[in-house]
Amino acid sequence: MTVPTTLPTAPAIAATPGRYCPCCDRHLREGFLPGPDGRPDATCPRCKSLERHRFFAILLGALRPQIGRVGTLLDIAPAPQARARLLELEPESYVRFDLRGGRGVDLRGNITAIPLRDRCVDLLVCYHVLEHIVDDRAAIAELGRVLAADGLGILQVPWRPGTVTDEDPDAPEDERIRRFGLADHVRYYGDDIDDRLVEGGLDVTRVTPADYLGAEANTWMGLGEDQSVWLVRPADAPATWAAPATTPLTSTLDSLVAELARTRLERQEARRALRDATKPR
Ligand SMILES: C[S@@+](CC[C@H](N)C(=O)[O-])C[C@H]1O[C@@H](n2cnc3c(N)ncnc32)[C@H](O)[C@@H]1O
Repeated sequence: MTVPTTLPTAPAIAATPGRYCPCCDRHLREGFLPGPDGRPDATCPRCKSLERHRFFAILLGALRPQIGRVGTLLDIAPAPQARARLLELEPESYVRFDLRGGRGVDLRGNITAIPLRDRCVDLLVCYHVLEHIVDDRAAIAELGRVLAADGLGILQVPWRPGTVTDEDPDAPEDERIRRFGLADHVRYYGDDIDDRLVEGGLDVTRVTPADYLGAEANTWMGLGEDQSVWLVRPADAPATWAAPATTPLTSTLDSLVAELARTRLERQEARRALRDATKPR
């Protein structure tokens, strides 16, 4: 399946500062703050969500009818920004798992040996972990092992479309920062991430924000232009997943967001004109 990875520029909303964070459900008059690397329009000033957390919130809402009842939810390396949306699923058991213990972690362990029995997880979330793991194939096999037959995994890794995975766990720290983005990353994934997931016994569907929302709405929520998420299921799952078809609501929301942005700009313009006209000469 080929899905677009970049969004067209959204001119109306891009010209206005107002934004909305779907993680904490706040309207942000002044918009998002820069990200950890200084990129603009990235961090929610309230809940500190980044683009990936906000797309996750949208995705989870969109998948909710298909997800249905959640017995066990395994949240690997839990992001606090995702918690509120995950709790809305009312899982019977919510297991927050990480290599490091501490507040916000229920179960400590290594993703390459998850201390849970086979096929017991209905919903699994694993964002920005696999790029840290030397033996990521072992980790992927573990994800496949713990997922229930009709379970769903929602995964994200940093990746560069159109490339082959670049990896070297033995590279010195400065080289890892240069090649993989951070000192504790051992690779940068390319297109072959799909093959690794399939080899691990998973059925894979890649989705992007453009599958769910138009460009104006994407910009309004600050979902980023290069987000991809892998929806995975056991290869022998009873039903496969497809990226959702956009509905008339997609373009309706987009046009509404653009119209609101235009109205806001016009109001600002009218205020400025009034100020200029009434200025003492
Ligand atoms: C960049 S953080 C991702 C946090 C969160 N998922 C997000 O997207 O904001 C990476 C996380 O992976 C966890 N981690 C690294 N190696 C791990 C391992 N072998 N097993 C389990 N968790 C691991 C780290 O402890 C850390 O919490």
